[in-house]
Formats: sequence, C-alpha cells, structure tokens
Amino acid sequence: MTTADPTNQPQLPPHEAAERRDWPAYFDRMEGKPARETLVTALDGFETVDPDGPPLALDVGCGAGRDAAEMLERGWRVWAQDSNPDGIARLRARPECAAAIAAGRLEVAQASFESMVLPQGATLVNASFSLPFCPPGAWAAVWAKLDAAVPIGGRFSGQFFGDRDDWSVLEDRTHLTRAQVLDLFSDYVLESFREEDRPSTCTLGGHKHWHVFHVVARKR
Ligand SMILES: C[S@@+](CC[C@H](N)C(=O)[O-])C[C@H]1O[C@@H](n2cnc3c(N)ncnc32)[C@H](O)[C@@H]1O
Repeated sequence: MTTADPTNQPQLPPHEAAERRDWPAYFDRMEGKPARETLVTALDGFETVDPDGPPLALDVGCGAGRDAAEMLERGWRVWAQDSNPDGIARLRARPECAAAIAAGRLEVAQASFESMVLPQGATLVNASFSLPFCPPGAWAAVWAKLDAAVPIGGRFSGQFFGDRDDWSVLEDRTHLTRAQVLDLFSDYVLESFREEDRPSTCTLGGHKHWHVFHVVARKR
C-alpha cells in the first residue's frame, strides 16, 4: 500500500522514483539514510586518515550526499559529482558539506557521467547505485575513465545492475551480466562481492525484481 503525505499526494516508493528518474522524489524518500554499506566497507579498508595530507575520494553520482558526508566525517577530501541540480543543492545544503566547501575539502561538480572530467590523485572511487543510470552507449568510455582514476592500492565501491533486473528492458540504462561485472575487476582484488537476485515488495508499495552486484575492490 502506498502511504500518503500530509497534503494527500501519494508518495512514490523510492524504486519507482528511480525507475522514472524522478530524483527529487527519490532524494525525499531517502532523506536521513546513512552511508551505503559498500562505501563504509571500502573506507574501513584504508589506514587511518592523516589530517595533514587527507586522501581524495571521488563520489560519482553523489545524489544528495549521504556518502560524501561519511567520507568528510572520516577526514577525506571529496570530489562529488552528479548531473541533477536538486541533488547538488541538497548536498551543498548539508552543514558538514557547506563547512567542507568553505574549508576547501569538498569540491562539487554538476556534470553527467559522459562529460565529467575526473580530478587527478584519487585513492577511492565510489559510485553508489548511480552507474546503472549511465546510457549504454557511453558506458565503456565512462568505465574507462573511472578505472583509470583508481590507483594501484586504491579502491572502487559501488553497485551495478544485472541482466535479470526488471529494469534491464529499459533502454536508457546499463545492465551487466555477472561475467561482465567480474571482467571489470580483472585488475582488482574483490574484497566484497555480493549478488542480490530477488523479488521484493517495497513497504511503500510496488514490486520489483532486483538483480544488483554490490562491489568493493582494491586495485592490484
Ligand atoms: C539512485 S541515485 C543514487 C544517489 C546516491 N549515490 C545514493 O547512493 O543515494 C542515482 C544518481 O545518479 C545520478 N545520475 C543519473 N544519471 C546520471 C548521469 N548520466 N550523469 C550523472 N549522474 C547521473 C542521479 O542524478 C542520481 O543522483
């Protein structure tokens, strides 16, 4: 059953908002959620951050900043990118992000995956539930950019959607087979690889078959 908000407008379940690319509705539904588990696992894998020389993380498809906030909290410098202006505005409005921008520890880029120019010197590339929304025609070049940004000893964390996901029939996004995902990481040690392949019923209503790969990997 879909719950109603105080104005009696039905609220979209988050997966329906994402299906329609209604990102403001998605961010509303996700407000207050903590950082993604894959990001937390990747951050836990690094040594304690040196405050005199904090490492740089790229947050690709950062949305409203739930992961960027965690990276900043742990002392990282962050480059956060997303094409959606509402997500960027929400990220900038977070007190910890506003303070980090003022301190020069957070740079924000409103750009598409296709057009983004990644900064040099990153140690971590994080892309939580964002890369599946890359247009298929741009995927190879986008992944090449991201892979090139991860140094030896650095990490990638994030999600890919699989070929058995309900949304794989949608032509505007990128779905990969298990073999294709594993192939992306031939130069990495897979520190965490979880394949989710299950039907779900959202508590706010709606059904979806999820096929998602959750990945944390360190480059060899
Ligand atoms: C499901 S949300 C995930 C947001 C955030 N990483 C999180 O974990 O909550 C997908 C994000 O990808 C962004 N996105 C979708 N297509 C994009 C594109 N072509 N270029 C850049 N960002 C894109 C959306 O604006 C949205 O913020």
